[in-house]
Amino acid sequence: MAAAALPPPVSGGRPLVGHGVEFLRDGVRMLERGYREHGEAFTLLLGREPVPVLVGPEEARWFLHETGHSLSIGEGMDFLKKMFGPDFYLVAGPEEYQRQLPATMLPFRGRAAQQRAELMTRHAALFSARLGDRGTLELTSGFAELVLRTGVEAFLGPGILERLGPYALREFRAFARGLDPVTPAWLPAPHLLRAHRARDRLRTAAGTLVEERLRHPADPPDILQELVRLHAEQGIPARREQLANRVLSLALGSHNDTASSLAWALADLLRHPAELAAVRDEMGADPSRTAPVDPDTVRKLCHLHRAVQETMRLHPLPPVLVRRTLRDVEVAGWVLPRNHRVFITPLLTHRLPRLFDNPLSYRPGRYLADPKAAQNILTFGGGVHRCRGEQFAYLDIKITIAHLVRDFDLELLDTDPRPVRKMGRHCLQGPCRVAYRRRAV
Ligand code: HEM
Repeated sequence: MAAAALPPPVSGGRPLVGHGVEFLRDGVRMLERGYREHGEAFTLLLGREPVPVLVGPEEARWFLHETGHSLSIGEGMDFLKKMFGPDFYLVAGPEEYQRQLPATMLPFRGRAAQQRAELMTRHAALFSARLGDRGTLELTSGFAELVLRTGVEAFLGPGILERLGPYALREFRAFARGLDPVTPAWLPAPHLLRAHRARDRLRTAAGTLVEERLRHPADPPDILQELVRLHAEQGIPARREQLANRVLSLALGSHNDTASSLAWALADLLRHPAELAAVRDEMGADPSRTAPVDPDTVRKLCHLHRAVQETMRLHPLPPVLVRRTLRDVEVAGWVLPRNHRVFITPLLTHRLPRLFDNPLSYRPGRYLADPKAAQNILTFGGGVHRCRGEQFAYLDIKITIAHLVRDFDLELLDTDPRPVRKMGRHCLQGPCRVAYRRRAV
């Protein structure tokens, strides 16, 4: 039997804009509607472009496997081209991606990864100390600053924020808002225009740092110094600008996703006292402020790991992953025409009862009963482009939660946390407040 054309369209597309406005306003609801109407394959009309959306692990495997063959990651990510330039490794095509691979891998391995883990531990300890004895912590803003500070210092060097001046964090935040996969990159939207201005200023500042490292290498070398060395060895063209783009992308490196996942993870734990008690138990029967919370200890906290894993399933920050077809392709009985975007959706896949029993409930124990269940989590993508920072994100989240759980009694004040609906990410909506009181030593 010949394959059908595109999956069926979701209802309610408007002339010219299709579902575009609704998708920008509330992408998650749009996806939920598509699934309700048509099940595991449906088509959204974004402007005039029909965009097929595929749900489920088989389609996800196809999508991830075909990337670099019949599907392109770069062609689906105009916003990266706009923010980091056409020779940025993710958008420059498969050959250039391979050429730059050693520099892509470097920050995530060996000494560089160790340095970053130690930095995160120091920042989390400082964060906990600065909270004082009691008070209220707003999770979304509090964690956004902690994670951004760590990312920026890890990849641009310690003391960099002080050096860049009082508005530096604001500039980084404005830049990060330009990493928007949903708003068309050509649209003169105010947040994109602000992001482009912040990008230009930060790129100049990062370029100056690279120049300095070329003239006066840091000893012992930090991550930036190692990247400068590697780029020089590889003769990667236009290395100053390219390197500036790379470190900025690393510094921002999904800080928003990490911070928001951290907020979700703590909120989820606090809403499930039995799970919180299990985490406290595994940290030691009598947790005290002197119990060590370092990367090695935290890596052994299995219950905490499963709890964070469950948060990653329930609240995957990217509701969709995006590619563009390079030719007509056939999948699951549909034909997707050339030069069209195609989405898979971690959010809906994670809610399939055939993959996860009782999918909407928070049950970290499911991964103990069935360790293979975690293989269906798509929050970090998969295949060649699987997130390189996954271990960083997990470690940042576990280190911060371990500090807070060890040091404080915590109570969630906003007891029904919800996702932000407007943006393209499944972020936790603020304010989400936690009351804390320091535990007796
Ligand atoms: C909870 C936090 C995070 C989430 C949910 C996340 C998610 C993702 C996803 C879904 C992809 C693949 C995109 C695709 O296939 O379309 C990706 C790629 C990537 N992520 Fe993350 N990420 C997180 C944290 C980080 C961090 C902290 C870093 C680095 C500091 C990072 C660095 C990268 C890099 C370099 C890639 C590109 C990999 C490649 O194509 O070679 N991520 N991330």
